[in-house]
Amino acid sequence: MTPIIIDTDPGIDDAMAIFFAAAAPEIELLGLTTVFGNVSGRIAVRNALRLVEAVDLDIPVAEGAWRPRVRPPVEPSWKVHGREGFGTLPADVPRGKAADEGAADFLIRVTAERPGEVTLCAIAPLTNVAEAIDRDPGFASRLKELVIMGGSLDAGGNATPHAEANTHKDPDAAQIVFASGAPIRMVGLDVTNHVICTPSDFALIAHRSPVLGGMLQEMSGHYVEFYQEMRNFDGCALHDPTAIVAAIEPALFEWRRTRVRIVERGEAAGRTIADPACAHAPVEVATRVDAPAVLHRFTEALGYLP
Ligand code: BDR
Ligand code: CA
Repeated sequence: MTPIIIDTDPGIDDAMAIFFAAAAPEIELLGLTTVFGNVSGRIAVRNALRLVEAVDLDIPVAEGAWRPRVRPPVEPSWKVHGREGFGTLPADVPRGKAADEGAADFLIRVTAERPGEVTLCAIAPLTNVAEAIDRDPGFASRLKELVIMGGSLDAGGNATPHAEANTHKDPDAAQIVFASGAPIRMVGLDVTNHVICTPSDFALIAHRSPVLGGMLQEMSGHYVEFYQEMRNFDGCALHDPTAIVAAIEPALFEWRRTRVRIVERGEAAGRTIADPACAHAPVEVATRVDAPAVLHRFTEALGYLP
């Protein structure tokens, strides 16, 4: 089993990724850390707790950053994920509470207890990950892998014409992470844009898993509408779930080993650039994906949920 922590800003596709991780028999889900992004920092914790309770998982939720490291606070992605983060799903109040320790403390502690074992899947702005790197010089090298849903080499951006949303929302944090020497797999728009889940796929998921799959089907309505408006096709991209699949089955992807730097300022802020001349350690960037196989993995695993 692969021990995984998910750093998340839930978020519709985050919910899909978390349910997938909870269902996949190969994953030992150790906890969630939350960060602003699709929603505010406050709603991110609430939504993460709601997901953990929905699946009846006994894992901690550690609260992280409410704003970027340097830049002024950014507006949540209401248009994409809805005001409360889960589309039209009502905003229930969770029963439980966040852990006593914060996100960076949790990341530092768990990786110190299990050095070289833990895969961190960062599917949100990289603020918490940068904080852990900043505070503990050994943190990056204790990770087994850092799988990042973020960035784009050739696919352009989705937050701006240049930048993907997660790297765009905290470019300073992204730069720290890509400069850290952590064993990074970047799963960006170059591949996630190609993994499309259609309304009929969600109907099948809901048929197999009426409670939790039904919840995802309900959330997906808003997300699919956004894609219909913006990109004129019937379905949505599985950005965050694709990163979790990459963590357990990298063979479904083609990888390019290259050095990556981040544009930190100006209109291209958050853009990820392959730059052989930069001083950062090389990382693995996903350039192609077996999209039907990833979609199959996702829909099959969700069938194990109630
Ligand atoms: C990323 O941005 C967020 O909207 C999604 O949850 C995903 O993590 C895609 O660019
Ligand atoms: Ca996300």
